[in-house]
Amino acid sequence: EMEKVQGKAKGEIPEDLVLIYKGILYPSFMCSEETFHALECFEAREDDLLVVTYPKCGTNWVFQILNEMLLFSQVKVPSIYQAMLEFGKPGKIQSLKEASSPRVFATHLHYRDIPKSFFEKKVKTLLILRNPKDTAVSYFHFSNNNPVLSSYGSWDLFFNDYINGKVCYGSFFDHSLAWGKHIDDESIMAITYEDMKLDYATYLKKISDFFGFSLSEEQLVVVENKTTFKSMKENSEGTHGKLGNTFFRKGEIGDWKSLFTEAQSKAVDAKFEQHLAGTKLGEKLNY
Ligand code: A3P
Repeated sequence: EMEKVQGKAKGEIPEDLVLIYKGILYPSFMCSEETFHALECFEAREDDLLVVTYPKCGTNWVFQILNEMLLFSQVKVPSIYQAMLEFGKPGKIQSLKEASSPRVFATHLHYRDIPKSFFEKKVKTLLILRNPKDTAVSYFHFSNNNPVLSSYGSWDLFFNDYINGKVCYGSFFDHSLAWGKHIDDESIMAITYEDMKLDYATYLKKISDFFGFSLSEEQLVVVENKTTFKSMKENSEGTHGKLGNTFFRKGEIGDWKSLFTEAQSKAVDAKFEQHLAGTKLGEKLNY
């Protein structure tokens, strides 16, 4: 299968790298229609933990935070999945069924595509949001550095696809708008990448409290030290394999300024205005 992905050409989207399911693009190397079907009747458990993000908003960071916190709060070691809920072959659903609690999941799925049992069981869900411009720049570099995703010959080509929702997982704005309607649900906590960067200790404590981990101050400091950008980047080969460094690129706020033109910046502002202005989520993002 690696041969298939090595043949990808720069500046065009090879069709065999994407799968379209219910109108949204997905990376075909990771996702299959059969798994999506199998997921529809996936049974969540009350003590599952779920991290929801649009791609490049800090998934791996928060996933690691939760796993580090669980190691302190539980006698049992959590079931750790490197991959996203929706990744993998349909057979993986059976192994998830057999996995011991607590299970930690991450997903980029839109609200409507989350298996219904997650809502029925009121699974605690952490929604991580990020400035749409920084997200775009991160996504551009990641697409070009990761052999199983479509490469782009130029930033402008990527930007057009991004603003039109023609990237894997669709439009940032559709994703945010749909999830944003639920940020006050009692089982959901929404925080931003920027908040975590600027006031890490406070938000780690919020995360710990939300999931009911009741970690001590000392334990929170250990989690903090293990999940800094630097520390995660240094350990990335161990946690993520050879391509690990592609997940830990820069880890900063404001890198959008390195690639955006004035017109592109205005185009994102207009989309933001159109979709998210006046919403609670728009207020939270406040970029
Ligand atoms: P950049 O490309 O801007 O550096 P995801 O995990 O959802 O794919 O998100 C990846 C983005 O989160 C990348 O952004 C990555 O560097 C950043 N990131 C990963 N771990 C981080 C950490 N511990 N602290 C801050 N940013 C982190």
